[in-house]
Amino acid sequence: MKRISVAEPKLQGNERKYVLDCLDSNWISSNGKYIGAFEAAFASFCGVKHAIAANNGTTALHLALVALGLNAGDEVIIPTVTYIATANAVRYCGATPVLVDVCPGTMNIDPMQLEQHITPRTRGIIPVHLYGHPADMAPLTEIARKHGLWVLEDAAEAHGAEVAGRRVGSLTECATFSFFGNKIVTTGEGGMVTTNDDALAAKLRQFRGQGVDPQRRYWFPVVGYNYRMTNIQAAIGLAQMETIDAALEDRQRLAKLYHKALAPLADALVLPEEQSGMRHVYWMYTVFLRDGGEERRDSVMRALDELGIETRPVFYPMHVLPPYKEDKAYPVADSWAQRGMNLPTHQFMSAEDVERVATALTQALTL
Ligand SMILES: Cc1ncc(COP(=O)(O)O)c(C=O)c1O
Repeated sequence: MKRISVAEPKLQGNERKYVLDCLDSNWISSNGKYIGAFEAAFASFCGVKHAIAANNGTTALHLALVALGLNAGDEVIIPTVTYIATANAVRYCGATPVLVDVCPGTMNIDPMQLEQHITPRTRGIIPVHLYGHPADMAPLTEIARKHGLWVLEDAAEAHGAEVAGRRVGSLTECATFSFFGNKIVTTGEGGMVTTNDDALAAKLRQFRGQGVDPQRRYWFPVVGYNYRMTNIQAAIGLAQMETIDAALEDRQRLAKLYHKALAPLADALVLPEEQSGMRHVYWMYTVFLRDGGEERRDSVMRALDELGIETRPVFYPMHVLPPYKEDKAYPVADSWAQRGMNLPTHQFMSAEDVERVATALTQALTL
């Protein structure tokens, strides 16, 4: 029987044509027409003035933090449940990620717990729109304004998600995205920083290119990085932007199919819910066991694997990982992360595939 993978890129538009154009024209490095075109398409999609492409989502985060002026000794508030890149980027600046517990269900940062973590060293907050559901931005940005903090959206997993009709990437002074192979928009590896701030955009471009002075070639007034995207990556990205509406619609279709197929398991599983005023893009359709812990979750995942269905565990919270280990309890993250798993979510999935996952899950839950 065909194996159902947890994620798969769909590259059936102009990806091939544009990549061949890079090869045929010899523009394969980080100059070339596709970079500007991809940046413009992405900025317009998010509804922002500037999009600055980077070579992955982690370097996009680091670049944004450098441009925002983060320094050694500073603190940045992040959710404890995220992909480790969020915490690592803060560490690369010599700053400390300060962890906050998350909300049940969405696993996004809990705005009610923010203020107690703000100290004189806090410079900003990084909400993460986990698995495609936006973080609770209204209370979070209000607290940030009150304390003079910047907000950097980590939108790596949430291309096209919305809060009150506005797309993520446009909600605060700065945002970052990932285009890794399993993302809603992919360039193989790749990233983007979005902003409406002209001065910040200029800094982002300068730091991305080794810090070179934009008016004077080979003159470097600051220490920068080589975080440039190649024309080949951008060629794939531009083609992906041409089909993003269909990609988002496909994920809505999948989520509806999953909701319906898994409804009979509601006593055993918590299904994802879209919060009012938000648009969830279902990068990963994520469910949580109501009973048991990590051991039971892992045995359900193993049973699914034996039935040809790949899944992923929800991220380990940062406070249990060796680089960021804390002995403190984060009650929601501790209980929910252990019970969560991502089900296969990609554009090649048919209604029959969803039925197969639901049947397998029903069987696995009875073991
Ligand atoms: C929340 C989050 N932040 C940052 C990143 C880093 O992106 P990349 O893998 O492109 O470096 C990812 C990637 O998976 C992510 O999920």
